[in-house]
Amino acid sequence: MKVHKHDAIIIGAGGAGLMAALYASKGGADVAVVSKLYPTRSHTGTAQGGIGAALGNLDEDKPIYHTYDTVKGGDYLTDQAAAKILAENAVDAVIELEHMGLPFDRTSAKRISQRRFGGHTRNFGEELVRRACHAADRTGHMILQTLYQQCIKNEVSFFDEFQVVDMIVVDGVCAGVVAIELGSGEFHIFHGKASFFATGGWGRCWSVTSNAHSLTGDGAAIALRRGLPLEDMEFFQFHPTGIYRMGILITEGVRGEGGVLINSQGERFMERYAPSAKDLASRDVVSRAIYLETRAGRSIKNRGYVHLDVRPGTVNRYFAEEGRDRGDFIDDATIERKLPDILDFCRTYLGVDPVHEPMPVQPTAHYAMGGIPTNVDAEVVIDAAGAIMPGAYAAGETACVSVHGANRLGTNSLVDLVVFGRRGGMKVAEYVKGADWVALPGDAGNEIRAEFDRIRGGSGASRPGELRQLMQQTMMENVGVFRSEETLQQGIDDLAELRDRFHKDLQIDDKSRVFNTDLMEAWELGCLLDLADVTARAAFERKESRGAHSREDFKARDDENWMAHSLVSMSGEMSAPHFELNFDRKVDLSLWEEEIAQGLPEDQQKFRPIERVY
Ligand code: FUM
Repeated sequence: MKVHKHDAIIIGAGGAGLMAALYASKGGADVAVVSKLYPTRSHTGTAQGGIGAALGNLDEDKPIYHTYDTVKGGDYLTDQAAAKILAENAVDAVIELEHMGLPFDRTSAKRISQRRFGGHTRNFGEELVRRACHAADRTGHMILQTLYQQCIKNEVSFFDEFQVVDMIVVDGVCAGVVAIELGSGEFHIFHGKASFFATGGWGRCWSVTSNAHSLTGDGAAIALRRGLPLEDMEFFQFHPTGIYRMGILITEGVRGEGGVLINSQGERFMERYAPSAKDLASRDVVSRAIYLETRAGRSIKNRGYVHLDVRPGTVNRYFAEEGRDRGDFIDDATIERKLPDILDFCRTYLGVDPVHEPMPVQPTAHYAMGGIPTNVDAEVVIDAAGAIMPGAYAAGETACVSVHGANRLGTNSLVDLVVFGRRGGMKVAEYVKGADWVALPGDAGNEIRAEFDRIRGGSGASRPGELRQLMQQTMMENVGVFRSEETLQQGIDDLAELRDRFHKDLQIDDKSRVFNTDLMEAWELGCLLDLADVTARAAFERKESRGAHSREDFKARDDENWMAHSLVSMSGEMSAPHFELNFDRKVDLSLWEEEIAQGLPEDQQKFRPIERVY
């Protein structure tokens, strides 16, 4: 196998990977980015509505308010010091992106424009605030382009269309990764002092998802298979507004601009579920509300979707009822300018023109709050006490800092990428200066090559496409927005059967080596099955409802027993692995503890766990 040697290997070329690469290279490291996609096709490019930062360009705002919203939005499972770092660093990260050339929309005073998003409030929940900095509805796309250009300028090496399939761990130290060059089918070893996983999420475990086909959780699955634990896997966010049946994201920015959700009775039903935040309540609340409307027979045509209405006539009528300033009123041109991609998607995929018609939407599997545990410098954590694995780093959706707790606030994914990508990149630069090279074992890469031979050589009766569809179906039905012991058990049983077929009865059609997407998709299915399995198992064990994890049989949040992160690990035979799950990792409540130390009376403590929003 060909061996490439670089100080730092960054796996994934989305926002977190590129930011890490940029900062590691700025710090003097020789950096290689290894990505299964051409970098600007990474999934960060699909992030639409904005990146949150308390710039206060349009409304009074402060990082401490952003911190509070992040903690509360995460239903108090958020690590509070991490949330503070996120909110404070967001401000200069956004300004840095602007200085790199990111074309943010502007206010009339030529400052970065900001819009409303769910759960973004001023003065600890007092009223909604405009915090999401945006470039039309293409904010992630702009971030990706900007960071890629900066990496090229900084002479980062890129290995595009090289898919990482294993990590190399020598005596507890990460010494690099193994990748397949998609164009040739050849295996390559990337030998690095630091390996940085930024491989994104695994929304493809579910049938209706906003995630691209490439979002198969490779990095998290590789870590799990190498004995590392994954944290808080039971928490997977459903974004309330995906295009009906297709799942493609319709940005929350639509509601930020005044769009409203309407049921089959023509009611703006969020007024009932969240009387003050209404359509801009946090995502878990809105997704549950849509499901409850559906159960009550009030979805459109009884088909499980509702309408998202951003027609100026509708929006302005509600604005007038709310006593909003006439300057806030919108017209067709406002929508065309601020939401061009959304209009384009709906016109292209649905034949629906949102300027004149409401959009059919349903909750769509969107974002993993859990993942590879890390500390706030993106170092991979391997146990409940916070011990790290030298040489291993992770950031972005594949990681769990944990800054999103049980439910991520909209726009905080982009903040997470740039803030923790940057911190991780700096840490990597510092680490590689002092670290010694770890010699590669003679058999590096052999195990994963044998696994690919097994998949290629299989002559069973099960095709990956069929297994994938069954997995997505059971995840949607049994491990979705609402769960119960019964549905989760069903999910676990179904996944065990699918795992068995995957390992014992698989066959792919294409046996070749060059650009063998059949082979790669089969391997990716294995990753998804592992991640689906640990998601269902962690959800089964957490017997409370919190954030995106809604148990019908344990409806209340239970801080006394479950204010803890889950850690799940896997060992033994891949066809019938052994799982270990504990809830020993404590939630960092340091901001609340500071308030107690300051002697603040309970009613003035902002970071204490408070009533859950149902
Ligand atoms: O609704 C959106 O634009 C999505 C943003 C996010 O997931 O943060």
